[in-house]
Amino acid sequence: MEIVLSGIRSTGHLHLGNYYGALRNYIKMQDNFNCFFFIADLHSLTTHPHPDDFHAGVRTILAEYLASGLDPQKSAIFVQSDVPEILELYILLNMISYKGELERTTSFKDKIRQQPDNVNAGLLTYPVLMASDILIHRANLVPVGKDQEQHLEMARVLARRFNTFYNSEVFPEPKAFNFGDDLVKVPGLDGSGKMGKSEGNGVYLCDDEKSIRKKVMKAVTDAGPTEHNSEMPEPVANLFTLLKIVSDQSTVEEFTNSYNNCTIRYGDLKKQLAEDICKQTLPIKARIEEIYKDEEYLRKVVKRGTDLARESAQATLKEVRKAVGFRSFLSSDD
Ligand code: TRP
Repeated sequence: MEIVLSGIRSTGHLHLGNYYGALRNYIKMQDNFNCFFFIADLHSLTTHPHPDDFHAGVRTILAEYLASGLDPQKSAIFVQSDVPEILELYILLNMISYKGELERTTSFKDKIRQQPDNVNAGLLTYPVLMASDILIHRANLVPVGKDQEQHLEMARVLARRFNTFYNSEVFPEPKAFNFGDDLVKVPGLDGSGKMGKSEGNGVYLCDDEKSIRKKVMKAVTDAGPTEHNSEMPEPVANLFTLLKIVSDQSTVEEFTNSYNNCTIRYGDLKKQLAEDICKQTLPIKARIEEIYKDEEYLRKVVKRGTDLARESAQATLKEVRKAVGFRSFLSSDD
């Protein structure tokens, strides 16, 4: 069975972008693949979260994962920092990752701009840690959003490079995966770009009805079309993209037609959009609240997931160490 791995950083809450861009794919994959899904708490340290909030961040994403439909009986669900094998692979992959290629990563260049006072080495090697997450399980398929394509390319480069460098065949090359034709990009409500945790333009799975309506009603639009069948400006196209994701086809057609014949009222469009988002997310919100409280259940889920993840990671690491040339004085085991 092919191996699937993916993860989400433990910062903030999951939004519609995470849900439709990533989680929905995870959930569908659980029946047909050997799945590993984790919470990337180490990755979230690049932005220096306060220690008092750090664990709650992990617990939040875990509860949101489970409430969205990840099934601990089908998938290994774990927290990155509980699997130290990842870090050993990380240091080894760092030795074959070059400063130039890491500096050229788009996400790194973005971060330099966004947080010029905190350009730490963890940011630079973010793609190496991500490659370690993937390669430690020798994953074949990685369900991620479009924004992660470049990181995934880095994981492929490192898999190939390791195999060549150490004349081995330890790692398969991981591929991005989703069930549609294209990776889904969920836009934000602020007129341009994708929905992101740090962009402040998102609708969250844990949002209540009132704040969903408020956010959607405030979304950027324009004065409305003046010519029949005119091209949609980006902010309006984005609302239609969201509508296509959460509403049924007839609703999308109705509003597309009214846009094309210039009778559209953006207020109606937004009202419908808010309603359909609520229909999708409010049941999930209720489950999040239940699960978040259930310490014993969370512990069980993570225990099982971690055991599976470490078993898989240890098997890989054994081959990795052999390929690199480690022979321990302390054990006769090779
Ligand atoms: N970089 C991913 C993000 O920002 C999170 C992530 C970390 C990840 N390690 C991964 C995703 C491994 C897929 C596979 O969302």
